[in-house]
Amino acid sequence: MMTVSGPAAHMALFALMTTTVIASAQAQDQDPGPLPTHVVDIASKLPLSKPIPTQSSPRVEKLLKKMTLEEKVGQLTQAAGGRSKTLNSKLTPAELDRVRAGRAGSYLHVAGAEPLRELQRVAVEESRLKIPLLFAMDVVHGYRTIFPVPIAISASWDPNDWERTARVSAEEASNSGLHWTFAPMVDIARDPRWGRVVEGAGEDAYLGSIMAAAQVQGYQGQSLSGAGTMMATTKHFGAYGAPLGGRDYGSAEISDRALHEIYLPPFYAAMKAGTGSYMTAFNDVGGQPTTGNADLINGVLRAKWGFDGMLVSDWNAVAELINHGVAASRADAGALAVSAGVDMDMMSLVYADDLTKAVMINPNLVQHVDNAVRNVLTAKERLGLFDNPMAYHDVDMERAEIRSADHIAQARLVAERSMVLLKNDKAALPLTSGAETIAVIGAMATDKQSQLGSWRARGDKTEVVTILEGIKAGAPKGTTIRFAPGAAPQSADESGIAAAVATVQSSDVVLLVIGEDYDLSGEARSRSSLALPQSQKALADAIFAVGKPVIILLTGGRPLAIPDVAEKADAVLMTWLLGNEAGPAVANIIFGRSVPGGKLPIAFPRTTGAVPYSYGEYPAGRPAHPNPVKDSNRFKDLPITQLFPFGHGLSYSAVDITDLTISTPFIDPGDSIDFSVRLTNSGTRPSYETPQLYVRDVVSRQAQPKMMLRGFKRVLLQPGESRTVTFTLSADQLTYYNRDGKWRVEAGRFDVMIGASAEDIRQRGSFQLSRTVESNVPAAAIATQTEVR
Ligand code: NOJ
Repeated sequence: MMTVSGPAAHMALFALMTTTVIASAQAQDQDPGPLPTHVVDIASKLPLSKPIPTQSSPRVEKLLKKMTLEEKVGQLTQAAGGRSKTLNSKLTPAELDRVRAGRAGSYLHVAGAEPLRELQRVAVEESRLKIPLLFAMDVVHGYRTIFPVPIAISASWDPNDWERTARVSAEEASNSGLHWTFAPMVDIARDPRWGRVVEGAGEDAYLGSIMAAAQVQGYQGQSLSGAGTMMATTKHFGAYGAPLGGRDYGSAEISDRALHEIYLPPFYAAMKAGTGSYMTAFNDVGGQPTTGNADLINGVLRAKWGFDGMLVSDWNAVAELINHGVAASRADAGALAVSAGVDMDMMSLVYADDLTKAVMINPNLVQHVDNAVRNVLTAKERLGLFDNPMAYHDVDMERAEIRSADHIAQARLVAERSMVLLKNDKAALPLTSGAETIAVIGAMATDKQSQLGSWRARGDKTEVVTILEGIKAGAPKGTTIRFAPGAAPQSADESGIAAAVATVQSSDVVLLVIGEDYDLSGEARSRSSLALPQSQKALADAIFAVGKPVIILLTGGRPLAIPDVAEKADAVLMTWLLGNEAGPAVANIIFGRSVPGGKLPIAFPRTTGAVPYSYGEYPAGRPAHPNPVKDSNRFKDLPITQLFPFGHGLSYSAVDITDLTISTPFIDPGDSIDFSVRLTNSGTRPSYETPQLYVRDVVSRQAQPKMMLRGFKRVLLQPGESRTVTFTLSADQLTYYNRDGKWRVEAGRFDVMIGASAEDIRQRGSFQLSRTVESNVPAAAIATQTEVR
C-alpha cells in the first residue's frame, strides 16, 4: 500500500487535485474560476463510513494479497466496449492493452461469443494476475428475441411471464459471451411523465416486488455458474422512480416512510431471490445522491439487509457526484463512492484515474477499496469464471440459442399476455364475423423499430412482425384489410390523414393504431404532457368523424391521458410495445384466438395535471368525496376516479367474484389468515380474471394507505366454470415502517377488499389483529401464498 506524508506530499497532492478540478470544470464547459482552497481539505477529511466486514473465499483473499493498488483499481473499473446502440465499437487495440495491464475488470455494451473470447483470452493469459473479465450489457426485455417492454410484461400480472422472459434472455445472452445483465429495473413510478416508467413494473410496491423476484430467478436460475444463466443487476437502487415532476435524474423529495414502504421493497425482494448485484440510482434522495450514500448502501443494503454481492454505479454517476455538488474533485468523488459501498465504477474512469490519488490522500480508504475488490472477485468466482472463463464463448451454442423456435413462441405468448383490454363496449372485440373490410390506420401499425422498445439489446428490427403484418396474416378468410398510415407520432406531417379518412369510408370497422413510438419513453424521455402526441390526436379526430366503429390499439411505454378518444372508441386495447412478435400476438387477441387478461400496473389518469397519483395514498383528513361541492382531497374539475385505475383490465366475458370467506376473525403475530373467493365465468367465452386482495389498517397512530395490494392471481375460466381462489396473508405483511426504523403494526381492525381493480371492489370484510407485530422485512416484499381450486 502506498502512503505519503509530510508537507512536500501535501503540495504534490494539491497539484493533483488542482488538475482534476480544472479538468472536470472544463468538461462541463464552465470557467473553473479560482481554485477552492478547501479542495484538499475536503478530500483528506472526508468522513468515511466504516468499512463493512466482507467475507470472501481463500482464493479471492490470496489474489487480493498479490494485487497492487493499480490492479485493485483496475478490477473496480468498468470500461465501455461500445455504446448501447453500437456494441463493441470501442474494442480497439488500446483496450486490449488496458486488459493486459490489468486496468479493467469489466466491459459493458459488448456482445458476441467470438469477439469477446479474444478479450477474455488476453485477460486470462496475458495479464499478470490472469483475472477474467466480466462482460455486461442491458439485456432488459430480451437479447436477440425481443419481448414486450417491461411495463407491458408486468401488466400480465403473472410473475411466470417475467421469469420466462428473463430465462430466454439469459439463455441467448450467456451463450453470446455475456455474464451480467443490467436488469431487472425495479423502480416504482407514480408519475408517468417520467420516461422510464416503461422500464419498471408500475406504481405498486407489492406487484413490483413479485416481478423483481421473478426476473432475478429467471436470469440467475439455480446457480450463477449454471449453463444458460447470467448475473442480474437490480437497479436503480435508491428512489430513482420518484424524480420531482417526473423529470429524469431529478431529486426524490420523499419521506423516509415512502422510501422504505414504496421504493425499497422490490430491491429487498430481489435480494431474497438472490440478485448478484445492484446498480445505484443517478439521482439523490433529499439531497444525498445514492452513488455516494453510505447510509443507504452500506447501511441499509449491506448491514441491515445483509447483501453480500456486488454494487456498480450507473453510467458516469461517480463523476457526476461533482455536478451534484457533493464532491470537490474526481478523487473526492471516487473516495465518496467507494466508501459508500460502490464497488465498480461504470465508465466514468474516476476509479481508474483518480482513486489511487484519493488513497494517497486518505490511506484508510484502502480498506474500502479492498472490500470492493473482494465483491468484484467474488462475483467472478460465483459466475464460475475462475474455473472456466471460456464457458460463455461457444459459437455453436450461441447459434443454437439465438431466436430458437421456442424462444419466438415464448415471446409471442408473453406479448399476448401483456395486452390490457381497457374498454370493450358491446363486445366490439373479438372481431369474429369475417367477410368484412377492416381499415388498419396509423403509422404505428408498420413501425418495426418501435416494437423493439427502449432497450433493444441485439434485437433486429427486420425480425419484427408488425401489427399490420400480423393482422393481414391472422384475419379470418374473406376479410379485406386496407391500410393507411395517416400520421406518425413524432411527425408534424399530417398530410396523410385525408387518405386515411378515405380508407375508413370504404371499410366496415377501423383498427386505429395510435399512441407513442419507442422514442417517447425511456431514459431522458420524460414528457410534460400525457396527452396523445398532436398528430395522433388529429388522426383520431378525423377518423371518429367518419362515424365507423373504431377499435383503438394503443401503443407506447406509459399511461396516456386519453379521456376523449377512449370515450368515442368502441374498444381500447393497450398494446404497449410488444417486441418481435407484436403482429401475431395482436392478431390472436383481436380475432379471438387468444383471450386478453392483462391488468394495469399503473393507473391511466384523465389529464396530466392529475399525476402523480396512486390508489395507495393516505386517506387525508378530508378524504376525496364524489361530490365536487364538498371540500375534499380532490380536483374540482375531475371525477375522483381514474380514467382506468390500477389493476383494471377486461377479458372477453365477465367474471363474478363472490362468496368471500375469512378463515378466522382474529389473527396473532406469527399467524396467517386465509381469504377465499369464488370466481365464476358467467359469459360465453373463455376469460381471465385476476382477483386482487387489498387490505387497510383502519386505525393506527400513523396514517395508513387507503388500500394496500397484498395478493393477486391470474386465473383462466371456461364459460360457466367456477373456481375458488384462496389468499393466505401473514401477520408480518401488515406492518409499516415506524419512525424508529422498525417494521411494526399495532393491534386493531383491518378491512379486506377483493376485486377486479383498485376501483372495482366486489367483496369486503374485516378481521382483527390481536397484538402488535414486529418484523425485519419490508411488508410489501413478502409474497402471499395463493391457491386455486
Ligand atoms: C444508464 C441507465 O440508467 C442504466 O439503466 C443502464 O444500465 C446503463 N446506462 C448502462 O447502459
